[in-house]
Amino acid sequence: MAKKVYIRSFGCQMNEYDSAKMADVLAEAFGTESTDRPEDADIILFNTCSVRENAQERVFHHLGRVRHLKELNPDLVIGVGGCVASQEGATIVKRAAYVDVVFGPQTLHRLPQLIALRRASGTSQVDVSFPSIEKFDHFPHARTEAGSAFVSIMEGCSKFCSFCIVPFTRGEEVSRPIEDVLAEAAGLAAQGVKEITLLGQNVNAYAGRFADPAAPDQADLAFLIETLAELPGIERIRYTTSHPREMTQRLIDVYERVPKLVSHLHLPVQSGADRVLAAMKRGYTALEYKSIVRRLREVRPDLSLSSDFIVGFPGESDADFEATLRLIDELGFCDSYSFLYSPRPGTRAAELSDDTPAEVKEERLARLQQKIEARDLSSRRELIGKVERVLVEGHAKKDPAELAGRTGSNRTVNFAGPANLVGEFADVRISAAMPHTLRGEWLDKRPL
Ligand code: SAM
Ligand code: SF4
Ligand code: F3S
Repeated sequence: MAKKVYIRSFGCQMNEYDSAKMADVLAEAFGTESTDRPEDADIILFNTCSVRENAQERVFHHLGRVRHLKELNPDLVIGVGGCVASQEGATIVKRAAYVDVVFGPQTLHRLPQLIALRRASGTSQVDVSFPSIEKFDHFPHARTEAGSAFVSIMEGCSKFCSFCIVPFTRGEEVSRPIEDVLAEAAGLAAQGVKEITLLGQNVNAYAGRFADPAAPDQADLAFLIETLAELPGIERIRYTTSHPREMTQRLIDVYERVPKLVSHLHLPVQSGADRVLAAMKRGYTALEYKSIVRRLREVRPDLSLSSDFIVGFPGESDADFEATLRLIDELGFCDSYSFLYSPRPGTRAAELSDDTPAEVKEERLARLQQKIEARDLSSRRELIGKVERVLVEGHAKKDPAELAGRTGSNRTVNFAGPANLVGEFADVRISAAMPHTLRGEWLDKRPL
């Protein structure tokens, strides 16, 4: 019987992408299959995240909950990967000796070797080095039956925003060569993938080398998107996450030329107050951010915008917070990831003094979230009666008899339709707006 691997992701989309690749490399090396029950697993992996509070403690809590499984099955392999592993390294094994392997975001492709070494040597293995981006050369060819797929185009981050741990856990920005990215995308398109999401911590900092010496020095994201749009079969292109500092005019112009690039952008702003943005070391002002959105909407009037916000950054005053609310009113974000600031050990902001009481911060966060939710609901209500083209991703979460599709503007629509629409485009008329989703009616009722 095939060995089973249980992988739990705690982090961002890159972390989830890495988890999928861990499953792929183990399947290729050991013929493992995935399970969602840790008690059935021969290998248990936690792919950790350290972006917010108590990340380290949470990892040990989850490890503690699977420890007894090792007593039942001494051959069980327990591994910790991801950003906490990258930071803590061997400390994890010191504190939890039953952990067999510790690996980082850049060494996950070495998992089979680490597990084999652990078995041969009898000692726990730790490898949290940063061997550039060699990992991509070791992943098996992506196999998928889905209509949409992620393609990672770069690793790491060199921005060092004062609050953020990511540059320490994932290393500096490195882009994959452009031919590799295009070959992977073409391979996915040949398997029926219609939508590609380009993935990276700062995708618009992409600077991919060409293998051909006669080619220009480097390709930027604008060039990559235009080239991808030419690939037969690719109908939609998304990218995430991007940084306002690298939202170049070249990239903005692509919105005018390439209709396959969706009318949705996730562009984290973090705050609407220049004082706070400067203390965060974000490298732009609120006015510069607004200018980017204005220029984008000039060429794409229907662009929907989502963002990340940090509330309660050290020294954020009432007036600063009001400036963030004003920015939200002005630009109309349809969705947000908003969290209270959490000091990350080792970052510059962790040394800043902060005298805003916790209740004030929580009240600010609640106000910001209410504002964005209200705006989101009203913008989704405006869609009622309109026809939207969705890419059908699978069955609806709440009612598996229904299908769930995603619009170009990144909204989920649930509707009744046949299962063989999964992976295909469908036209649906929007009939209702629920708190987080839309309902629709499939317009093509012909049997497929
Ligand atoms: N590279 C992306 C960018 O700069 O916009 C964001 C990547 S980061 C993993 C995702 C989000 O986590 C950030 O946009 C920020 O809002 C949030 N975040 C990062 N560090 C944080 C901290 N110390 N406290 C609270 N939120 C944090
Ligand atoms: Fe973190 Fe800033 Fe890099 Fe984003 S750009 S990952 S917030 S350091
Ligand atoms: Fe978390 Fe690492 Fe992603 S810290 S948000 S898993 S890059």
